[in-house]
Amino acid sequence: MLSSTPTPLIPTLTLFISITIIFFLFNPSLLPTTHRSSPPIPLSDELSDLSLFSRATRRAAAKSRLGTTNQNPKIAFLFLTNTDLYFAPLWQIFFDNYSALYNIYIHVDPTVKITPPGGVFQGRVIKDLHRTYRGTATLISAARRLLATAILDDSSNFYFALVSQQCVPLHSFMFVYNALFRQNVDSVSLDRLSFIEILSNESILPDRYNARGKGVMVPEVPFDKFRVGSQFFVLTRRHSLMVLRDRKLWRKFKIPCINVHSCYPEEHYFSTMLSMLDPKGCSFYTLTRVNWTDSVNGHPHTYYPPEVSAELIYSLRESNSSYSYLFARKFSPDSLNTLLDLSEKVIFKD
Ligand SMILES: *[C@@H]1O[C@H](CO)[C@@H](O)[C@H](O)[C@H]1NC(C)=O
Ligand SMILES: *[C@@H]1O[C@H](CO)[C@@H](O)[C@H](O)[C@H]1NC(C)=O
Ligand SMILES: *[C@@H]1O[C@H](CO)[C@@H](O)[C@H](O)[C@H]1NC(C)=O
Ligand SMILES: *[C@@H]1O[C@H](CO)[C@@H](O)[C@H](O)[C@H]1NC(C)=O
Repeated sequence: MLSSTPTPLIPTLTLFISITIIFFLFNPSLLPTTHRSSPPIPLSDELSDLSLFSRATRRAAAKSRLGTTNQNPKIAFLFLTNTDLYFAPLWQIFFDNYSALYNIYIHVDPTVKITPPGGVFQGRVIKDLHRTYRGTATLISAARRLLATAILDDSSNFYFALVSQQCVPLHSFMFVYNALFRQNVDSVSLDRLSFIEILSNESILPDRYNARGKGVMVPEVPFDKFRVGSQFFVLTRRHSLMVLRDRKLWRKFKIPCINVHSCYPEEHYFSTMLSMLDPKGCSFYTLTRVNWTDSVNGHPHTYYPPEVSAELIYSLRESNSSYSYLFARKFSPDSLNTLLDLSEKVIFKD
């Protein structure tokens, strides 16, 4: 006789498996973190970057053998953007009349369509070679490509200031220029400082250090050498070349994170490298003011028109170092008109 009595095990198992699947579907944070990792940088992008960086360092070495130029040293402004340059009209006034003392380079993501800015920005937009993604080492690569482009373009570029489309100037161009070069503009000496934030002993460091997995960063980057700092900096030419020559740290920093919540490689690569290679040559603070009070999802406080006033500009300039802050972020695009109203009497009045 055939018994057709079903065993109760099968439905029980099915129910258990379904509940398990539903549980994980609604709790993505419990899935293995590798499922949410960012894609690695394609080899073709790596090779094209490598060739650009080598060209820049070789050209710089050849130029320095020929001796220094008689020209005034310039500031290369590196705009790292993926939208329109909202504050172009304000920067236009900032740059007006000083064309011998600066250059502008604008990274635009190759997939983004922007309105080409006019005036001093005319012809300065570089459709970048490769895409950038938040929370990945592609932001480091884009900053390095901007540095290399500026090094190749003009041997008078001495300081390299990385800014974004949400940054605004807090002072006039000549104030910024004199602050960076501090009087003796003719002696472009080797001992000038880079203005880059370098912080240690921050509570976020262990998670950020292990974002690619435990033990991944050694031996190149031991934990006690790992630093954090603002993505926005002003580097000397000498330090920019160090950044372009680096292969050792890049090998580690380019590894995709498995913990995307602690993945901000661009806030670690530059400050870690420069604090390892030349701490005496660095300020340890940034010249770009940012407000992290009540930050949301890794984004700092954004200033909207009702908050934008002369008092805000004055308070954003105040710093604990002997330097005033020179730039600030982030401002909403619709703050432009309020900022323009303040430009003559406040921002560009020294
Ligand atoms: C630039 O120079 C012109 C002519 O000298 C002057 O009218 C203008 O105000 C200057 N602009 C700035 C921002 O200083
Ligand atoms: C970090 O903290 C340790 C222990 O408190 C201290 O010895 C060290 O000097 C600190 N490092 C820096 C760079 O402040
Ligand atoms: C920083 O942002 C907070 C709100 O997130 C605001 O209350 C505060 O006034 C801001 N500080 C400055 C100096 O603007
Ligand atoms: C200056 O330092 C004090 C004390 O550490 C701090 O409360 C304040 O926020 C700092 N000011 C600026 C502008 O960073």
